[in-house]
Amino acid sequence: MALESLVVRGGIPLHGEVQISGAKNAVLPILAACLLTREKCVIHNAPDLSDVGFMADILRSLGAEVIVGGSTLTITAKKVTGRGDYNLIRKMRGSICILGPLLGRLHKAKVSVPGGCVIGTRPINLHLKGMEALGAKVKTDSGYVIAEAKHLRGVDIFLGGRLGPTVLGTANVMMAATLAEGRTVIESAACEPEVVDLANFLIAMGAKIQGAGSPTITINGVKELFGAEHTVIPDRIEAATFGLAAVTTNGEVLVKGARADHLQAVLDKLKEAGGIVEQRSGGLLFRRGKSLKSVDVATQPYSGFPTDVQAQMMTLMTQVNGISIITERIFEARFMHAQELMRLGADISIEGPSAIVKGGRPLSGAPVMASDLRASAALVIAGLVARGTTQVNRIYHLDRGYEKIDQKLRKLGARIQRRPGE
Ligand code: EPU
Repeated sequence: MALESLVVRGGIPLHGEVQISGAKNAVLPILAACLLTREKCVIHNAPDLSDVGFMADILRSLGAEVIVGGSTLTITAKKVTGRGDYNLIRKMRGSICILGPLLGRLHKAKVSVPGGCVIGTRPINLHLKGMEALGAKVKTDSGYVIAEAKHLRGVDIFLGGRLGPTVLGTANVMMAATLAEGRTVIESAACEPEVVDLANFLIAMGAKIQGAGSPTITINGVKELFGAEHTVIPDRIEAATFGLAAVTTNGEVLVKGARADHLQAVLDKLKEAGGIVEQRSGGLLFRRGKSLKSVDVATQPYSGFPTDVQAQMMTLMTQVNGISIITERIFEARFMHAQELMRLGADISIEGPSAIVKGGRPLSGAPVMASDLRASAALVIAGLVARGTTQVNRIYHLDRGYEKIDQKLRKLGARIQRRPGE
């Protein structure tokens, strides 16, 4: 992987229109779901991201054919082996969502345990609990999760964890249960729009699923699933990122494809902070009102404020006079960006799960290190408002989850260049 950085020269408000791509966190489990049938599946509006490329390689390593034609992926998994490539799967946490489909289709799966990452330990106990409840024997051996079942049987499962529901855990259990015998009820299911998108694709494949988008999902198992065609929902986190970038830089951006119904908590906070969001045909227009004020934010499972927008919101709060308390309730260690924002001159202190941002100090450019995807986005936005030049290093994190972010920002007037770097 070539190391690259983004060099941002700040001080220019963003103006214009930007098209949002398909949702990363919807397309990854949807691609995994293609393993549930031997027939051809066609997925439209897939974003061009390195994570999507990894998932395509993982499916190929399991025996599926994956054809990429622009934003349309065609997947045919005529024959599938139950063993995923250790090194490929290790690279991306989202790859854990092949576990459910493999178990559903083959009644066995061997998948490398995904590692932790900078945002926290990221356990998979709830995924495994779900598979066991469906009748699988699960063990961890030499870095692999090995799951096997003679029969998968529908069951009532409580899937809530210490920090609430699990998005990919819900996806995994839902996928395995589509081919189990009888009825499965998942209680404390994740309600994220990405879970609903996956359920809609599974229903198009012939699955019997009710209640996706609510905390109770009911799946009536079927004998077989079939090929289907599906268009992935727009990425609500990418939309929020561009909307926040517009307000932070005091610009005006029409975010095409942004869906207000998926972004209620973010829009509500942004309006409370003095941002203006207007519904326009095809998207949402974001700009500043007369003045901004500091707001407190706590992340929650959907439909609360998303953890994936916490870092970008922190950057906005550095630009607003007053004190803002930002509390992270989903991932324990998701404040790596705070340190880097401080390097740019922000005044932030971390007290347990909260960051206290004393806003209103001007930022000035410096080299910063991107640590995870959303932290990287927050640093790019900070670079857009900072005086001088900010070099955001290690942007492979950004390329995992934002399609052509530098090109999209340049179209909005930003001075941003990709360079070989650290
Ligand atoms: N958790 C457990 N046990 C489990 C699974 C999760 O304790 O078995 C805990 C986690 O440690 C965390 C909480 O439950 O504290 C919620 O985690 P969740 O399982 O919902 O996260 P995930 O499904 O692994 C997805 C997204 C993340 C996003 C989270 C929360 C994908 C590929 N990833 O992760 O996206 O932050 O949901 O909304 O869908 C990103 O896009 O930058 C990103 C990190």
